[in-house]
Amino acid sequence: MIKGIIFDLDGVLVSTDELHYQAWKRLAQELDIKDFTKEDNEKQRGVSRMESLEIVLNKGDKVYSLEEKEELAERKNAYYVDLLETLDNKAVLCGVVKTIRYLKQLGMLIGIGSVSKNTPAILQKTELDQYIDKVSCGLDITNSKPDPEVFLVAAGKLGLEPENCLVVEDSAAGIVAAKAAGMKSLGVGPYYKSLSATYEATGLDTDIPWETILQN
Ligand code: BG6
Ligand code: MG
Repeated sequence: MIKGIIFDLDGVLVSTDELHYQAWKRLAQELDIKDFTKEDNEKQRGVSRMESLEIVLNKGDKVYSLEEKEELAERKNAYYVDLLETLDNKAVLCGVVKTIRYLKQLGMLIGIGSVSKNTPAILQKTELDQYIDKVSCGLDITNSKPDPEVFLVAAGKLGLEPENCLVVEDSAAGIVAAKAAGMKSLGVGPYYKSLSATYEATGLDTDIPWETILQN
């Protein structure tokens, strides 16, 4: 029986992909990496900031020290944070508010499980914070998805056992993390069919058999 839903943030509740892409693209250009594409950016879905940086650097041939990499990741984040200034509730994906309101009516606890360290700012700017009971994010963890830590921390904060939580995710790393946490999952987004989630839907704006999912 499911008692809490743990939502990933980027690509599930909020459309931030384009902003991440623009910030990484700007950094790539500064590093003389001209062919950083949307396809490369797709590989960064659900992946931590430092691992995402590696995906960018792999497109070039220069070798950087750990200190330099930290500076590069910070620089990208500064570009991203600037872009987040433009974020408001219009960035909330279709069907999200309606779904969360419905789940709350059914008595579900609502959590966030995201590796993004910008989670609190994004929740506030999009006004989604009013619907969320507990947040587990990049600021709470040392191991990124596919490690289960972010979801186990979320379940702990919600006061629930893993088997009573359902994860909603758009990334392969996130679905692996949910499984490793002992949680069922609902895969959404452009790759929902290839995620091997317990349940699948194109997005939260479609008909999802919630009552069946929550009873299993
Ligand atoms: C994930 C995104 O939610 O957060 C990744 O899907 C991103 O693309 C990661 O790299 C880390 O985000 P941030 O905001 O801490 O750099
Ligand atoms: Mg995501």
